[in-house]
Amino acid sequence: MDTFEEIKMNGFADEYIDPSLDLFAEIEKLKKEKNAVVLAHYYQEGDIQDIADYIGDSLGLSQQAAKTDADIIVFAGVHFMAETAKILSPNKKVLLPDLKAGCSLADSCPPHLFKKFKENYPDHLVITYVNCTAELKAMSDIVCTSSNAVQIVESLPKDQKIIFGPDKNLGAWVAKKTGRDLVLWNGACMVHEIFSREKITKLKERHPNAKILAHPECEEVILQLADYIGSTTGILKYATNSPETEFIVATEAGIIHQMEKENPSKKFFPAPPNNTCACNDCPHMKRNTLEKLYLCMKNGTPEIDVPQHIIEKAVVPIERMLQISARLGL
Ligand code: 13P
Ligand code: SF4
Repeated sequence: MDTFEEIKMNGFADEYIDPSLDLFAEIEKLKKEKNAVVLAHYYQEGDIQDIADYIGDSLGLSQQAAKTDADIIVFAGVHFMAETAKILSPNKKVLLPDLKAGCSLADSCPPHLFKKFKENYPDHLVITYVNCTAELKAMSDIVCTSSNAVQIVESLPKDQKIIFGPDKNLGAWVAKKTGRDLVLWNGACMVHEIFSREKITKLKERHPNAKILAHPECEEVILQLADYIGSTTGILKYATNSPETEFIVATEAGIIHQMEKENPSKKFFPAPPNNTCACNDCPHMKRNTLEKLYLCMKNGTPEIDVPQHIIEKAVVPIERMLQISARLGL
């Protein structure tokens, strides 16, 4: 039996579930009974993607969270994503199947250190990648995601000085694309920093026609190999619209589920990482399971709580991002 503290952290993750239960049918029933919507990121396991009402990248998920009329948002993703949903819909209940589903990139930027860093650049605007804590968003001027970071930077006057955090790889890519000189926070994602240039090159030799698709959270040495660089939605669209039939995918492997569903005749190879295991799963994203999703909907916990004073500040840069994106048709 879980201790009270563990239950608070994980909900009822160890609660017995009758193995004969059809979890897909049960989750559908709970959605109707509780007027709940399930939002899932592309890095979730295939079963969760299949039961979700909406699957998307960080921008799409924020847009859905802002406009849903459900009473409960069940966020199949990581903590900062569920926090963003709560900030945008503070009167709704937001559930996360496993509260320990964090993010190495968000963790690489502790708010008290970022506050000091920011003080060194008093005449700079702060753009933060959505993969950060609510507290960090509360210190920012505009939030961005990987699908709008370039356009958000370009929407500002050319002489505007900018701090970009917390992802140094995304920041460097945006700086290159926009020709702006951004001050970067030194953060990174453990999943996107692990790809091996050497192993990807060898894989490409075995599949010379394969197009290499990479997420901008990857290091520059990986991005140099890519035929296309973009957010998870961008990568999925590129593969679907491309006449090519083979792709090497340099992002978290969960995206391949949708790529294969939308393109059953095409072949997708996960880009190999620089370690002995062949896996490039995000351990945080993969903490959520169909069982935990079912239990959190049944029990109404674990719930995301963001202090009111943080919500009031953090909503401003997120709304700015949504407004700029809507204006640009993103
Ligand atoms: P996008 O799906 O917005 O590209 O983000 C990728 C990511 O790392 C989310 O944690
Ligand atoms: Fe965070 Fe990286 Fe996992 Fe995305 S893939 S949730 S950035 S650790």
